[in-house]
Amino acid sequence: MIRPYQQKDREEVLGIYTYSDPTKKKRIEVKINAVERLDNWYGFVAEDDGGIVGYVLIEDLIGGMYVSELAVKEGYRLHGIGTSLMKEVEELAREKACKNISLNCNVDNPNKEFYKKIGFEESGSQIGYREGQDKIWFLKRVR
Ligand SMILES: CC(C)(COP(=O)(O)OP(=O)(O)OC[C@H]1O[C@@H](n2cnc3c(N)ncnc32)[C@H](O)[C@@H]1OP(=O)(O)O)[C@@H](O)C(=O)NCCC(=O)NCCS
Repeated sequence: MIRPYQQKDREEVLGIYTYSDPTKKKRIEVKINAVERLDNWYGFVAEDDGGIVGYVLIEDLIGGMYVSELAVKEGYRLHGIGTSLMKEVEELAREKACKNISLNCNVDNPNKEFYKKIGFEESGSQIGYREGQDKIWFLKRVR
């Protein structure tokens, strides 16, 4: 089941990702704070009987929806949960009259194939983004 993020989900959401980089957890906490406090940030969680198994955090940038974080718990991947979360993002984007959804991904992240599978197209690249990592940008038009 996909539903909007609630404050009580905070710790479970922070437990989804396996953090090889401790600064990543801090960055996700900052984004969760934004979802909790700001009108233009949204979150959705995927829940099964055992609890939260995935989440997406999004920013409405007026005209375009930006996917800031997306993760499905290890052991639950490749079962359509990521797709379901992104469908919810698309619905929200249409509701908010956004023209497109954008996101970026590390060049060497194999999960970039997932975005292509769900209809995103590469829209550019950025060399030496945060921490010097190269990023690929993806875009999907919704209107
Ligand atoms: C990326 C992620 C959210 C995908 O979620 P998921 O629930 O496993 O994805 P789905 O099961 O909905 O997959 C949809 C399609 O994409 C494909 N896919 C998913 N991950 C893939 C990968 N790493 N490589 C190739 N194809 C992939 C699936 O096979 C499926 O294809 P199909 O429709 O032909 O069966 C998940 O792997 C994840 O949380 N990864 C760790 C965090 C991360 O990297 N986030 C993205 C940062 S850019």
